[in-house]
Amino acid sequence: MLRGKNIVVGVAGGIAVYKVVDIVSRLKKQGANVYVIMTHAAANFVTPLTFREISGHPVVVDMWTESTNWNVEHIALANLADLFLLAPATANIIGKIANGIADDMLSTTIMATKASVILAPAMNTNMYLNPIVQGNISKLTQLGYHFIEPGCGSLACGTEGIGRLPEPEVIIAKVMEIFKGKNDLVGKKILITAGGTQEAIDPVRYIGNRSSGKMGYALAKVAAARGAEVIVVSGPTHLLPPSGVIVNYVESASQMRDAVLAHYADSDIVIKAAAVADYRPQIKSTDKIKKNSTTLNLVLEKTPDILFELGQLKKHQILVGFAAETQQLLDHAQEKLTRKNLDMIVANDITMPGAGFNVDTNIVKLLYRDGHMEELPKMSKEQLAGIILDKIRA
Ligand code: C5P
Repeated sequence: MLRGKNIVVGVAGGIAVYKVVDIVSRLKKQGANVYVIMTHAAANFVTPLTFREISGHPVVVDMWTESTNWNVEHIALANLADLFLLAPATANIIGKIANGIADDMLSTTIMATKASVILAPAMNTNMYLNPIVQGNISKLTQLGYHFIEPGCGSLACGTEGIGRLPEPEVIIAKVMEIFKGKNDLVGKKILITAGGTQEAIDPVRYIGNRSSGKMGYALAKVAAARGAEVIVVSGPTHLLPPSGVIVNYVESASQMRDAVLAHYADSDIVIKAAAVADYRPQIKSTDKIKKNSTTLNLVLEKTPDILFELGQLKKHQILVGFAAETQQLLDHAQEKLTRKNLDMIVANDITMPGAGFNVDTNIVKLLYRDGHMEELPKMSKEQLAGIILDKIRA
């Protein structure tokens, strides 16, 4: 499965470095081309020579020593990598990546790569649990870096707790998972809407909603990681666009409609995770409305129901909608599934803690065209994205 894959293994300076020699050897046995970059600290634990012999390639430590036989500049390795494995990932290298510091070969190459990066943290328990380290991990997780949780047990520093580098089998399994997950949506074009729309009242104010865009962006990220060509039509959001995804920013429901229709005909799968305004001000004031009177009446008119329109125009596309409800969840979701001519609807009761808007988790039920329904437990939006895509593929 790893035959011909280029894996760059970044080795940072922790006592667990010796275990990574075995990991490099196993990756090679699976057919991967393995290139090792070490930090200077790592080279104090195990010599670069050991990794060179095991990987069969020169090992890079220093940015400034000239290479004799191979182009080892950071961009070359960053571009070459199909996958980056960082083991052991020390608190220091995690902190550098999370904060945009690139001051040695390893951190610079990671900053320059577009490949998936897996980090296997290993360090003293207190260091691992330090809120700064945890904050950096969660920031990187949100940005799409993959983490393997450290194991528990006795640590080199003489204490017991979380912080051990996971066994080589666990790390190799994660590498396999990333490659396996990568390919099943190759050749598919997926159109995803995300975030909430804003309907202008005047040049300053708008009617909006609490949607953060997190669910749509998680879907986009996972779909792209699985090889799909992904186009996101996004309402205004503070989220960073997932890498490898085209984002088309819009503000209003009517702009979202135009953008979605422009991509609809050649999309294979359409997932409408956006919270589209149902009503907009009938008249948008060209000047800022002054507060001259005690009340202000706004007349609202219906926005186009984009998903309904897509349902009418549907040919080969798989159409997935979302239903965020505060009451009679299943009845409303079922009604939308039928009326909008959908293949699946993701129903979430937004009154439940850990579900719905602006949180990283969701609790949903999946309803299908053939009438069956699946109830899922609370999980991260990224995990849910994976399941939704699995169900669409099934
Ligand atoms: O009918 P309701 O707005 O609750 O349906 C929700 C689903 O329909 C979501 O998938 C949402 O993205 C989509 N929708 C739409 N156009 C609208 C309103 C909702 O595409 N005007």
